Amino acid sequence: MNKVAIVGAGRVGETTAQILAEQEVSREVVLIDIREDAPQGVALDILESAPLIGFDTGVRGSNDPAAMTGAELVVVTAGVPRKPGMSRSDVLETNVAVIDGIVDDVLRYAPEAMILMVTNPVDVLTWRAWKRTGWPRRRVFGQAGVLDASRMATFIAMETGFSVRDITTLVLGGHGDSMVPVPRLCTINGVPISHFLDEGKIQDIIQRTRDGGAEILALRKNSSAYDAPGASVAAMVDAIARNRRRLLPCVAILQGEYGQSDIAMGVPCALDGSGLSEVVELALTEEEKARFAESAGAVAADIARLADSAR
Ligand code: 2OP
Repeated sequence: MNKVAIVGAGRVGETTAQILAEQEVSREVVLIDIREDAPQGVALDILESAPLIGFDTGVRGSNDPAAMTGAELVVVTAGVPRKPGMSRSDVLETNVAVIDGIVDDVLRYAPEAMILMVTNPVDVLTWRAWKRTGWPRRRVFGQAGVLDASRMATFIAMETGFSVRDITTLVLGGHGDSMVPVPRLCTINGVPISHFLDEGKIQDIIQRTRDGGAEILALRKNSSAYDAPGASVAAMVDAIARNRRRLLPCVAILQGEYGQSDIAMGVPCALDGSGLSEVVELALTEEEKARFAESAGAVAADIARLADSAR
């Protein structure tokens, strides 16, 4: 890939840029932010690590949205993060205005690009960007499930002592309190986690996964999570840039799958050079279906809030 643009040079944008640069996922990474000097400072700081780490990725910062011209992929991380005690939905009205402006910039300067939404509430903002662009869902998707599944894998590793390399997890649904970890499909190299963990422990891990973002926020106090989120975004960009066809949980526009339409939610998807090339519809148990539907209800309520505030 030639060029990735990251809009928002906050902590998630910076961590993403740093990993993409270090791994030479694209030839160039451009950080764009409205704060004067901020993206330039972040870019220069990353660049100054290049001689030590040994990468040739071009990294630059700009306050001008025109800097995204030529980007094949635009990662959107701009917006306000939540503060302790807030839910991700509490920043919806503020962030939708930010996102609308960025989507208009993408339409103007990078009309052939893909959009990878990261800003919260990510499900509804992915849906919003998809609506506003009118693009096929292949080109507009969001990051959430990669992070949530990574958190769940971390907690399973902590409980069992097994290497994270052997742990596979799956989290579906909206990236909110009603997200749907699926322990039935979580394994340690093919062995179900229930072989090692009793039901009480599994339920604790599910709850800790749901509260994962809030746990970091409560500990850090002055910041949401950004190390694991940045690594999650970078994993998705890598899958696209290197045309890997990875199967990753992504925020995808659903068009009848899982009984849902005109909504964006976390489901397993194929990611390759063309973007989100396939939504994989899993057979769920009745209980999983009910939880997924409940999560869809929460996302749909946020989408309806947008419609109300537009009136
Ligand atoms: C998280 O889960 C901020 O949504 C982000 O950490």
